[in-house]
Amino acid sequence: PTETPASTNGKKQPPVILCIGMAGSGKTTFMQRINAHLHAKKTPPYVVNLDPAVGNLPFTANIDVRDTVNYKEVMKQYNLGPNGGILTSLNLFTTKFDQVLDLIAKRADSVSHILVDTPGQIEIFTWSASGSIITDTLASTYPTVIAYIIDTPRTTAPATFMSNMLYACSILYKTKLPFILVFNKTDVVSHEFAVEWMTDFEKFQEALSHDTTYMSSLMNSMSLVLDEFYSHLKVVGVSAVTGNGVEDFFAAVDEAAVEYERDY
Ligand code: GTP
Repeated sequence: PTETPASTNGKKQPPVILCIGMAGSGKTTFMQRINAHLHAKKTPPYVVNLDPAVGNLPFTANIDVRDTVNYKEVMKQYNLGPNGGILTSLNLFTTKFDQVLDLIAKRADSVSHILVDTPGQIEIFTWSASGSIITDTLASTYPTVIAYIIDTPRTTAPATFMSNMLYACSILYKTKLPFILVFNKTDVVSHEFAVEWMTDFEKFQEALSHDTTYMSSLMNSMSLVLDEFYSHLKVVGVSAVTGNGVEDFFAAVDEAAVEYERDY
């Protein structure tokens, strides 16, 4: 991706923040927090919800996949289970994504950021053709950064931590976009342990040595691979509930957007 984004016409485009995370990591709460933060600063964002199955959205979306497709109807019509219903709904929505881009473009001059919430089942977005199409089309027009939300209290075990990092790594290499690891729920557990494991390989090996499961020998080998991955990341700790760390998050977005302009 070396070309200048096609539709910039020399104007500075608002960054897209693509929120991705495992089910229950706090994506929706985090979206609500950053949305409220931008409104409070009088720099409102443009908000897109791509989760067809979210029940109650605690913020107003400018574009909501649920206005276009009803995933329960899709399940019935195509005789699918819940995940198939969500995936098919996203596919149907993606066929109209050019219209979404037109709507965003009309507002791009007057918004600070474009916030995008993705389906709760992470793989529906990260490993589907429609997820790739949506990501690529956004990234060809706007400086796009991935915010990968992590449930910090649930990732304190070395093997779980490593699995989560490998997943994040696969998304980084698939999208090749600037990447921010957002350690959420730091009001419950601080993310310091994670920063330590990511910066001091021996500390992680030490933690892993207490893990006697079969998984740990695999993790031992994999952790060497991740060293290179860590060097490409930005890391922030936040609490979507208290708002702690949100300024750090936006500083990381600014840096990532500069990186995008330089490298893409
Ligand atoms: P799905 O879309 O269902 O996968 O969930 P999600 O990733 O959007 O997570 P959601 O925002 O629904 O949050 C999941 C749970 O974590 C809820 O009970 C939230 O209240 C809680 N939660 C989210 N962020 C925080 C946080 O910063 N601190 C604490 N203590 N709880 C949080």
